[in-house]
Amino acid sequence: MSLQGKHIVLGISGSIAAYKSAMLTRLLIRKGAEVQIVITPAGKQFITPVTLSALSGKPVISEFFASGDGSWHSHVELGLWADMMVVAPATASTLGKMAHGIADNMLITTYLSMKAPVFVAPAMDLDMFRHVTTQRNLEILQRDGVQIIDPTEGELASHLEGKGRMEEPEKIVAILEECFATKKELAGKKILITAGPTYERIDPVRFIGNFSSGKMGFALAEECAQRGAEVLLITGPTAMSLSHSAIRRIDVESADEMHDAALKAFPEMDAAILSAAVADYRPVQRAERKIKRKEGEGLTLTLTPNPDIAAALGSIKREEQLLVGFALETDNEESNALGKMEKKQLDHIVVNSLRDEGAGFGHDTNKITILSRSGGKRAFELQTKKATAKDIIDTLFAST
Ligand code: CTP
Repeated sequence: MSLQGKHIVLGISGSIAAYKSAMLTRLLIRKGAEVQIVITPAGKQFITPVTLSALSGKPVISEFFASGDGSWHSHVELGLWADMMVVAPATASTLGKMAHGIADNMLITTYLSMKAPVFVAPAMDLDMFRHVTTQRNLEILQRDGVQIIDPTEGELASHLEGKGRMEEPEKIVAILEECFATKKELAGKKILITAGPTYERIDPVRFIGNFSSGKMGFALAEECAQRGAEVLLITGPTAMSLSHSAIRRIDVESADEMHDAALKAFPEMDAAILSAAVADYRPVQRAERKIKRKEGEGLTLTLTPNPDIAAALGSIKREEQLLVGFALETDNEESNALGKMEKKQLDHIVVNSLRDEGAGFGHDTNKITILSRSGGKRAFELQTKKATAKDIIDTLFAST
């Protein structure tokens, strides 16, 4: 594995762990990477730009303006130049600013212009790391596609023991290398992914929906894009966002809209992974005006079936196309899933059971079993949806 010729933006914010950034720079340069350092004003209190520019062989960027003559550093150009950005150390303040777009220094403007994958290696005191605010910001960043390099446990600058030590430079380099190494194996492949819930309108203000968050489908889209695939993500209403530029996103609301978009795109695709929780029924009538409450009277909605997108794609699927579905079950998981695989002509089906704690809708984790038409069965432990996405893609494309 090599970082030969890779362009890496290294963001440094104000933490004691900034001394480790010198070693990180050195290791990256040794691996053949070009490193452009962007440091926050607080970062300079911990390590000098002179040290860092000597190690990286490039002037360190910190201010918006290069000199007193009005010339300025272009974060937009840096965003285009970079193959990757890593913020190490990332303080609580920098994580907060990244999560909320508070662009008051060059590191944050560079992050907001970034087209390449972004990693953060948090470093802070254990209570700051544990704080609900920090955890919320990390969650936002993760949803936005930023990859978190978890801090380790040990002695902290405060002399307290706990989680908050920035990961060691050698380990960070290995993680970045792995990202580049896994990047290209799906190059040239076009993959359709459906994600999220669908909303079926009852009247202008109400709908029938479900609790799907879209997290699993978005993690799959990011994973495929990272491995070089061209991804089309058709998603129902969700708060999720994407970071990867190789993902084209189509937002839809109802099962009908998702069906039309998926059917139109599928002939061009090499594979389709259907993780959306599609509503099985919609109201026969959609009221033009808000349905008014009538005292003492019930309300009966008549529902009609929605199209089965998976089955529709299964019926037009070509031999070389791969079709993968999901099954969220509460009981008889395996036999129900096998039945769905057969009925919808799927090649694989990813099963999760609502009986497993931490699996299914809304969680950041999932516990799955993948059943294959060829008779294969692989069961995985409870893990993050990101790790689950890796296992799913490894299994689906094992032979390519
Ligand atoms: N699916 C679909 N279109 C639908 C319903 C489901 O494409 N109208 C897809 C889902 O995205 C999933 C698979 O079919 O990949 C199985 O979904 P699921 O809801 O478990 O299956 P259903 O056929 O709806 O069966 P049931 O709800 O009765 O369990």
